[in-house]
Amino acid sequence: MNDEASRNGQLLQVRGLARRYDTAAESLHVLKQVDLDVRAGESIAIVGPSGSGKSTLLFILGLLLPPSSGSYRMEGRDMLALDRRTQADLRRRAFGFVFQSCNLIEHTTVRENLEFPLMYAGVPRGEREARIREALDAVDMAHRIRHPTNLLSGGEQQRVAVARALVNRPRVILADEPTGQLDRAHGRQIMDHFHRILSGGDKAMIVVTHDPSVAECCARVCMLEDGVLKG
Ligand SMILES: Nc1ncnc2c1ncn2[C@@H]1O[C@H](COP(=O)(O)OP(=O)(O)OP(=O)(O)O)[C@@H](O)[C@H]1O
Ligand SMILES: [Mg+2]
Repeated sequence: MNDEASRNGQLLQVRGLARRYDTAAESLHVLKQVDLDVRAGESIAIVGPSGSGKSTLLFILGLLLPPSSGSYRMEGRDMLALDRRTQADLRRRAFGFVFQSCNLIEHTTVRENLEFPLMYAGVPRGEREARIREALDAVDMAHRIRHPTNLLSGGEQQRVAVARALVNRPRVILADEPTGQLDRAHGRQIMDHFHRILSGGDKAMIVVTHDPSVAECCARVCMLEDGVLKG
């Protein structure tokens, strides 16, 4: 850990981040020059038009996709210079990712979807049950613990996806439209839960959303447009 970064509460620092997608037809410069500072305890909403690169940015922050250029540091540590194994380890332990499309594992139960990340992170069997219950309670889904994920409603899948992202108690929550399929009350419940987690002061959250009421819950709103992040 870099002392200076941790002293001033800086958790994430992104500078000059760019990402290009090369297809047979064209080279698409989705992110051109993204700068972002995230402090511990902070909640940030990222808004912007469809196709502006919000999911792409979240994937890069979650170490799921490499940028074409730029720098990315967590507590002063150069995230892009880490070997693949260390990156994979951080992905499992430090980041909780809520995918736009939920990405629950098919032909498994709700319980299994939450237990796999705990197993990969080496959480002992005896502790897993309590963590799974706690995470499901927080999204009001404990009653479906044995349910196959493909038989859940869209909103229920989304709530399980949120529980799965949080079950490892990640340092950084990266949530891509986490309330897109939810009614107002459940959307509110999830945002309240995120903020309860953040109130400890050592974690941070970046949430992509099209919903103004979700953006309003966040301390800062940034707009991604034309490959640049403003705000
Ligand atoms: N693997 C890929 N190869 C080529 N183009 C891609 C790839 N992934 C994304 N894109 C393109 O990059 C652009 C940004 O995609 P991205 O998913 O980041 O947008 P977004 O802001 O999350 O949009 P939405 O609000 O609709 O979810 C889009 O135009 C998309 O078509
Ligand atoms: Mg998206």
